Amino acid sequence: WGPYGHAIVADIAQEHLTPQAEKTVTALLALEDHQTLDQVASWPDTIGHIPENKGGAPKTLKWHYVDIDVSHSVYDQARDCPDHACVVEKLPEEVRILADTHASPQERLVALKWIVHLAGDIHQPLHAAERNKDMGGNAIHLTYFGNNANGHMNLHSLWDEGVIDHQANLHVGPFYSIDPVRAKQEADRLGAQITPDETKYWVQDLDSGDIHDASVSWANESHSLARTVAYAALPASKGADVGKAYTELTWPIMELRLEQAGVRLAAILNKALSH
Ligand code: ADE
Ligand code: ZN
Ligand code: ZN
Repeated sequence: WGPYGHAIVADIAQEHLTPQAEKTVTALLALEDHQTLDQVASWPDTIGHIPENKGGAPKTLKWHYVDIDVSHSVYDQARDCPDHACVVEKLPEEVRILADTHASPQERLVALKWIVHLAGDIHQPLHAAERNKDMGGNAIHLTYFGNNANGHMNLHSLWDEGVIDHQANLHVGPFYSIDPVRAKQEADRLGAQITPDETKYWVQDLDSGDIHDASVSWANESHSLARTVAYAALPASKGADVGKAYTELTWPIMELRLEQAGVRLAAILNKALSH
């Protein structure tokens, strides 16, 4: 997702934390003078494109997604993530660090920041799919309501932020900057749509299994939605303007994925910080 998507997921999660988890989250965030999860939600995106000798972490760029070709139906670790450097494997790894009370507070804070981010990304359908080596739609250039962002608009960026920003009238500034009040308003609007039954149903994989099982099934859900919605609803003609029709089809799915990501992020944190 883009900065608004990540902030919205974090804001929804913040509202679903148990008092005990919230206490530890607040203490860890305070190490960097932050108060709430939305403030760290996009941090991993700010370090990926900076060279290692300038304090960045280009090796982590791959942690945000998993390329499962659309010819396959489900994730296969040996085939899709042989080096374990993908979102399906990294999310549980970071959860284990956060849950480890013997790890240093600094280490646990970094893990928390990764979890907030990756719990969002694993729910973005195109972060778990690719078609014809298109890098999750990054190679599919298109025009959206007459705008092609000087050739930079593509299917992936449309799902990360194009549609959200259009539907909620949000505007991302330089260096991932957003208006946190607008993000919270949007999170509250989405949060109000979540029923108690959904909350219970959405965290079943986490309740009944471990975080790795849950991570695999959430990526599989994303992959399936990429095939049946993100790619399927695309106009057949190359470079076509995807506007109203594509937005009407995809926006409800984006809302659902942001809501699920928020509820599940809270469930991850509640479980990892329960002792
Ligand atoms: N780069 C390559 N594949 C990608 C994907 N599925 N999502 C985001 N970035 C990618
Ligand atoms: Zn993305
Ligand atoms: Zn990301």
